[in-house]
Amino acid sequence: MNSIDPVTIVDHPVVARDLTILRNKNTSHPIFRMALSRIAIILAYHSLKGLPLQKIDVETPIRKTDGFELDTEIVVVSILRAGLGLVDAVTQFIPEAKIGHLGMYRDELTHQPVDYYSKLPRNIENSHVLLVDPMLATGGSASDSVSFLKRKGAKNIRFMCLISAPEGIDRLQNDHPDISIITAAVDECLNEQAFIVPGLGDAGDRIFGTV
Ligand code: PRP
Repeated sequence: MNSIDPVTIVDHPVVARDLTILRNKNTSHPIFRMALSRIAIILAYHSLKGLPLQKIDVETPIRKTDGFELDTEIVVVSILRAGLGLVDAVTQFIPEAKIGHLGMYRDELTHQPVDYYSKLPRNIENSHVLLVDPMLATGGSASDSVSFLKRKGAKNIRFMCLISAPEGIDRLQNDHPDISIITAAVDECLNEQAFIVPGLGDAGDRIFGTV
């Protein structure tokens, strides 16, 4: 996937409005899920920019003309669990996308990512891979996930997230300069617990109602 900036910060009124709903600590989990779904669609739209196309013929009711179809397979890889909240937005644009899962949680004391599960589709090495997770905090989970995908042969990888910390962007760019990041916001910093400030709390807990 070429022709996209190293970091895209999506600037859109609907995103700004929905991010505010997501940040609000009083937002209930059904409303949180709905706002996340709306933002995810806009993020997915930007994340799929520049995909390779193949020219094909198409017959309109009037005459033959040029058309296009995607010239690559798309694999969406969700970092469990919170990444699940972003997958449907991508498959709305690319219904034939295959979906992989990486189980990764961040140890609450060390803040280091711990991997506990993985299931990826075949042929990832010839696909365009969109790795999704709402939060890029220290960047450990995203960076380890990208390393894992590269070990499995993936070459074209983008990372789509909702909120990033500058620390996470720096880490991912240093570890994997070839990865483009698409995000709705870059927040101020991390706190002592490595939570994004101001952020929105724990995305997984808020999506799934496990607060
Ligand atoms: C959160 C988030 C990312 C990770 C970000 O997951 O969804 O996966 O932390 O932090 P990092 O950039 O410092 O690695 P969490 O560990 O809360 O797991 P969950 O998705 O199961 O809630």
